[in-house]
Amino acid sequence: MKAIRLHAQGGPEQAFYEDAPNPTLLEGDVLVRVLAVSTTRGELDWPPTYNDQNGNPRTPSIPGHEFCGIVESTGETVYALTSFFRNGAAAEYIEVRAADLAPKPLTLDAVQAAAVPLAGLTAWQALFDHANLLPGQTILIHGAAGGVGTFAVQLAKWNGAHVIATANAKDHELLTSLGADQIIDYKTQRFEELVHDVDVVLDCIGGDTQDRSWQVLKRGGVLVSIAGESIGQPSPIQSYP
Ligand SMILES: NC(=O)c1ccc[n+]([C@@H]2O[C@H](COP(=O)([O-])OP(=O)(O)OC[C@H]3O[C@@H](n4cnc5c(N)ncnc54)[C@H](OP(=O)(O)O)[C@@H]3O)[C@@H](O)[C@H]2O)c1
Repeated sequence: MKAIRLHAQGGPEQAFYEDAPNPTLLEGDVLVRVLAVSTTRGELDWPPTYNDQNGNPRTPSIPGHEFCGIVESTGETVYALTSFFRNGAAAEYIEVRAADLAPKPLTLDAVQAAAVPLAGLTAWQALFDHANLLPGQTILIHGAAGGVGTFAVQLAKWNGAHVIATANAKDHELLTSLGADQIIDYKTQRFEELVHDVDVVLDCIGGDTQDRSWQVLKRGGVLVSIAGESIGQPSPIQSYP
């Protein structure tokens, strides 16, 4: 098959469109014909792109771990985030654990679906697995207009939360359309002077923004940060005592 493969660590100059062996299926895998693929920002810098789980080199490797495609054996259209330690989907075909697949949403085309998994799953996990966000709670989302933030705003609103977002003024209209109840311009306003007693802070920015966020939490509130996360490292999750 044809694939884009990385032969050494580096930028896009290390990626070559070339012939590659057809995928070899492991137990639990299915073969998917790729329709669309995303390469996540930072992916070319991550060790798993070049090494296996034991740290041994696995180049030439195929990037692109978010994708949409058709399961060869059943004809179903699926989308997924696949393991960063395995070959990605910048190829005609990918071997992927069947358990990683989900049916493609009917409302999205293949390119749109391939852009959803990592940012969407990150937002979902932060809100519901880590922060346990409940209907009626108030959440402050930093970086709300970004890749993860835009999913987080919609998911939090869908779950019945009161959503306060920090963003650049140019993005306020977008965030209103996504359901944000209150929007703070991070360039001209200090959120800690405007917000207090929130149940959850989702921090997609880190640094000074994270440091200033503790004071807006109510007692027992939770701050989840995804900022600067590297693959394989847990996100900081802390509760205000
Ligand atoms: N995307 C993913 O799938 C993913 C997954 C896991 C972890 N992460 C990590 O999560 C963090 C955010 O990633 P992302 O992809 O969502 O970022 P992104 O798409 O680059 O968006 C960042 C957003 O934050 C805004 N912003 C910058 N400084 C801000 C501040 N002080 N207060 C409020 N908003 C501010 C930016 O607006 P401007 O237009 O003003 O710059 C932009 O809208 C990164 O550290 C990333 O490594 C991302």
